[in-house]
Amino acid sequence: MSHPIKGTTALVTGANRGIGEAIVDALIRAGAARVYAAARNTKDLAALAARHGSRVVALQLDVTQPAQVAAAAQAAPDVQLLVNNAGYAGHSGGAFSDAQWLAEGRREMDVNFFGVLAVSQAFAPVLARNGGGAIVNIASVASLVSFALFVSYSASKAAVHSLTQVTRMMLKAQGTRVHGVYPGPIDTRMAAGVPFEKTSPADAALAIIAGIEAGDEEIFPDPMSQNMGAAYLAGPKELERQVAAMSG
Ligand SMILES: NC(=O)c1ccc[n+]([C@@H]2O[C@H](COP(=O)([O-])OP(=O)(O)OC[C@H]3O[C@@H](n4cnc5c(N)ncnc54)[C@H](OP(=O)(O)O)[C@@H]3O)[C@@H](O)[C@H]2O)c1
Repeated sequence: MSHPIKGTTALVTGANRGIGEAIVDALIRAGAARVYAAARNTKDLAALAARHGSRVVALQLDVTQPAQVAAAAQAAPDVQLLVNNAGYAGHSGGAFSDAQWLAEGRREMDVNFFGVLAVSQAFAPVLARNGGGAIVNIASVASLVSFALFVSYSASKAAVHSLTQVTRMMLKAQGTRVHGVYPGPIDTRMAAGVPFEKTSPADAALAIIAGIEAGDEEIFPDPMSQNMGAAYLAGPKELERQVAAMSG
């Protein structure tokens, strides 16, 4: 069954740069009636507002701040499509005993897992009132298999995968579709130090929109994630072995 973006109202967290900004552009191009572009600092949304005028509505939202999450749900009562994109990777590389895995890992969990949970809880009743709609969680290939480069980030993204499954189970009755997106390396500030070939945020965003419209529960928006996604679906243990071999 197809679920066209045309005419829908969406909200994207972390919309001021990277994949989030590209998703806002792609939603507008696909005919969304209105997109709430949510960011910690609304000044960072000036370029999006200039490109799209009144179809993009700037909203302040730090996903770790409960008062801002509640205010966003009040300010955007017409949302039908929630895109949980905001994310944080605080530390990469380093030995297993590196203290940064703990220090930055707490923040990664706070943004990547608790942030998605808090925003989804706040918007679930909004989506229900608007006919069910959909939630899109931007997880990662690191949700499906751990990478030595990203010890604590991988764990936070595995938590997002788990949350995606249970959100799908628990919001089915209210008619909310739940999509998990599992990107490989995308060319944004977050992946600046990642030593793999990267896909552009614009191409990833187009693939994400296509997956939402097609009703795909798992969306693999770039070549690496398509390969790893297929390997994961064939057998997660074999994928673990492949990635462990890459880590040396
Ligand atoms: N790039 C990749 O290779 C890749 C691969 C797999 C998955 N992902 C995921 O894709 C999503 C987007 O990442 P990106 O690559 O576009 O990275 P990015 O360029 O670093 O953008 C991260 C975005 O998240 C926002 N953010 C961080 N903490 C926040 C908070 N507490 N509240 C609200 N917004 C917050 C940032 O806002 P500020 O500007 O205010 O910091 C920024 O808009 C993330 O969930 C990431 O984990 C990325």
